[in-house]
Amino acid sequence: MKEIGYEVLIMELHEKAREKMNVCKGCKNCNGEVCRGLNPGPGGKGSGEGFVRNVKMLQNIGLVYDCIHEDYEVDTSTELFSMKLSAPIFVAPIANVTQHFGTEYNEYLYTNDICEGMKRVGMVPFYGDGVNEAFFKAPMKALEAHDGYGIMTIKPWSDEIVEMKLQETMSHKPIAVAMDVDASGLVHLKNTATPIVFKSVEDLKKISSKIDVPFIVKGIMSVEGAKKALEAGAYAIVVSNHGGRVLDNCVSSVEVLEDICAFVNGRMKVLVDGGIRSGNDVFKMLALGADGCLVGRPFVVAAIAEGADGVASLAEKYQKELAEAMRMCNCRTIQDISIEKVKNFHK
Ligand SMILES: Cc1cc2nc3c(=O)[nH]c(=O)nc-3n(C[C@H](O)[C@H](O)[C@H](O)COP(=O)(O)O)c2cc1C
Repeated sequence: MKEIGYEVLIMELHEKAREKMNVCKGCKNCNGEVCRGLNPGPGGKGSGEGFVRNVKMLQNIGLVYDCIHEDYEVDTSTELFSMKLSAPIFVAPIANVTQHFGTEYNEYLYTNDICEGMKRVGMVPFYGDGVNEAFFKAPMKALEAHDGYGIMTIKPWSDEIVEMKLQETMSHKPIAVAMDVDASGLVHLKNTATPIVFKSVEDLKKISSKIDVPFIVKGIMSVEGAKKALEAGAYAIVVSNHGGRVLDNCVSSVEVLEDICAFVNGRMKVLVDGGIRSGNDVFKMLALGADGCLVGRPFVVAAIAEGADGVASLAEKYQKELAEAMRMCNCRTIQDISIEKVKNFHK
């Protein structure tokens, strides 16, 4: 990573990306305000409040520091999916970057760049899926080119299509397979040649029993949802409101995280996304009980700006900020990050 300040890095990435995008405005503070309701585009649905609330509620949590301790180096590494990761940070699945960000950059370049960039820094990307053939073919190509490096997120299509996509995905031996069950509520995917459907616990059980890699259910926003994912045999859940893109006026992921983690109590891994914009935000989510964090829109901007280099730089920035927060709050390892290390102003 270039030895420049984090703020400068972000400004440089955003300036470069802005020249190459005409839908996303590349705001330095990516908080969903400017793009409220912009879809196609990167915005939250309707009033855009779901996206805005994700960012806003995270800012209501503060880090509590405790800086009288030995002069040690912290360890941000963690083990997830039977892999040692340099930090518990993932790229969230995002499909159709060309249209939503307004760029000539395409799906094939994007999936390859997030794979290469994250692999370089010892972290992992999730890949998205969509109705257009390229949205599925691009991640398949990245998985094939990089020996299964990445987590494929298949949408809740009809059983037949899920089966077909599952088989092709599994032929590339991915790290894990996810399903974004909340995408069932995406109305624009209802009236297509391959409509999206809702999935029951039984449907999810069948999917998880067919694969020999961890199964992740993405789009859990309640204890009830977590209970069902557990019943379905999920290895992990992603607490997520899909960046506020499925349901307007929904609660934010950080508001429901603590209760969900208390219910899960170690029986599944809990990942979370929505409005995470720094290593400090990652620290907050871990303190509330998450095992790992996904970041979406900022990685697309970084990839549009500088390809795999931009992705790797941004991931390293988050990792370094996480390390700084850990050192200031007296946490040598990820396991030391506990609820006492933050003050939650929602309460
Ligand atoms: C343009 C766009 C496309 C997305 N596509 C997918 C997708 O294909 N699959 C999925 O599970 N989530 C998808 N998401 C949701 C993201 O994975 C993630 O949940 C969300 O962006 C929240 O993170 P953020 O605030 O860091 O962007 C998409 C989000 C955006 C903005």
